Amino acid sequence: MTDHLDWLALVAASLSWLVAWRLCHPRSFWYALGYPLTALRVRATWRKVALGCGLTKKRQRFWFTTVPGLIASTGVVQVKRRWQRISVDTKPWMWLPLPTRHGWRVTLHLLEGQIPADYSEAAERLAHSWGAHAVRVSSDKPGRLRLHVTMRDPLVKLDNLPASPDLLKITVGALETGRPWVIDFRTVPHWLNAGATQSGKSNLANALIVGLAPQPVALVGFDLKGGVEFTPYKSRLSALATSRPECTGLLDDLLGIMTDRMDLCRMAGARNIWQLPPYMRPTPIVVLVDELAELYLMADKSEKDDIAKTSTALLRVAQLGRAFGIYLFCCGQRIGSDLGPGVTALRAQCSGRVCHRVNDPETATMTLGDLDPAALDSARAIPAETPGVAIVAGQDGQWYRARSHYVSEATAEHSAQTFAHLTPAWEDLINPNPVADPAPKGA
Ligand SMILES: Nc1ncnc2c1ncn2[C@@H]1O[C@H](COP(=O)(O)OP(=O)(O)OP(=O)(O)O)[C@@H](O)[C@H]1O
Ligand SMILES: [Mg+2]
Repeated sequence: MTDHLDWLALVAASLSWLVAWRLCHPRSFWYALGYPLTALRVRATWRKVALGCGLTKKRQRFWFTTVPGLIASTGVVQVKRRWQRISVDTKPWMWLPLPTRHGWRVTLHLLEGQIPADYSEAAERLAHSWGAHAVRVSSDKPGRLRLHVTMRDPLVKLDNLPASPDLLKITVGALETGRPWVIDFRTVPHWLNAGATQSGKSNLANALIVGLAPQPVALVGFDLKGGVEFTPYKSRLSALATSRPECTGLLDDLLGIMTDRMDLCRMAGARNIWQLPPYMRPTPIVVLVDELAELYLMADKSEKDDIAKTSTALLRVAQLGRAFGIYLFCCGQRIGSDLGPGVTALRAQCSGRVCHRVNDPETATMTLGDLDPAALDSARAIPAETPGVAIVAGQDGQWYRARSHYVSEATAEHSAQTFAHLTPAWEDLINPNPVADPAPKGA
């Protein structure tokens, strides 16, 4: 009896020790215990899972089978063994699953006639079979495919924005894979950031402001919400437009700056400002636009010419800005073709796409373009309780579910004030000296 009690106490102590380990240090628990058990289970059940998810193919194989033979004089059926050609379900070849921070990944060899889209379609089925949060599919080689499995949603809470030391390369959040979500303006110069109201668009703009404020860049705001979003960050903005006439003036200035930079590059024999020697290189400018649609909405016909002018100027900035260090980050609830041809052309120039929660499928399609249909479904499935979650396309041509780090207005305002001395004066950007833009005001 006491032996049994001892055993029970030992089992209970071990279990509570395991639970405590998992709660206190989930990462080491996952690598030491969770992952090996999961890998064994996944390998052991792969045939059944592949069959259930419709990922197997029928193939003819020689199989050693038992068939009824003659009936012996005793009445017992004599069973004969022989090789027979029969049809079997073949599963895709699976390598050993490898652990990742939030789950595991595995490489598969596609069976004949299969394409990665077959696996994207089955992703939800696979996730349920493995008890995982999500399964994403990628393929970097013909005939091969990688499944990225996340066991728990890593985007539940993100409120610790890391520093971004590299110029114009800002870590704004985390991807579902656990890797950082980076907006790199030098790789993808122009971005569209769409989503329904309260979906987290301004929070993402705040994260960008906090990341860019300590860097030697000029920030420009177009705030068509009457200035309520960007006015608190005015101390770090080189220019801010809050009405349509101000926007028109500011866009004219930006076109002027672009023309000056074109001349500078031509004279120096450079194709873009990054090929200029550092002492000649003008300050990069990041243009943040909130409520883009307001730039295109017409109250009456008298505004038609104004809108056409603004739209053309913005499009020119987008078309030529990249080479001359002018980058766009446009936010809006709807960035659709119903706003006019100018918006469609602008959208085509913005290769970085961020789609927060949307209310209608058209907005997701307009923002993410003809990306994988699974991305559009994911965008529509973002719940209202998780503001900041978005589907991101860009950098590597793939799409990811991601979430921005929570950055309150107070944090962004504090950052803007702390680095106010780094703000280049707008007049100095418009009229640069012949060699380079002057030092930031107050520096
Ligand atoms: N990543 C995040 N984590 C936690 N909370 C967030 C996150 N992003 C946004 N929020 C919260 O969601 C709310 C709405 O965010 P935000 O103002 O950025 O939405 P929006 O899309 O700009 O809305 P609107 O269209 O009305 O301007 C805010 O209260 C903000 O605190
Ligand atoms: Mg907003």
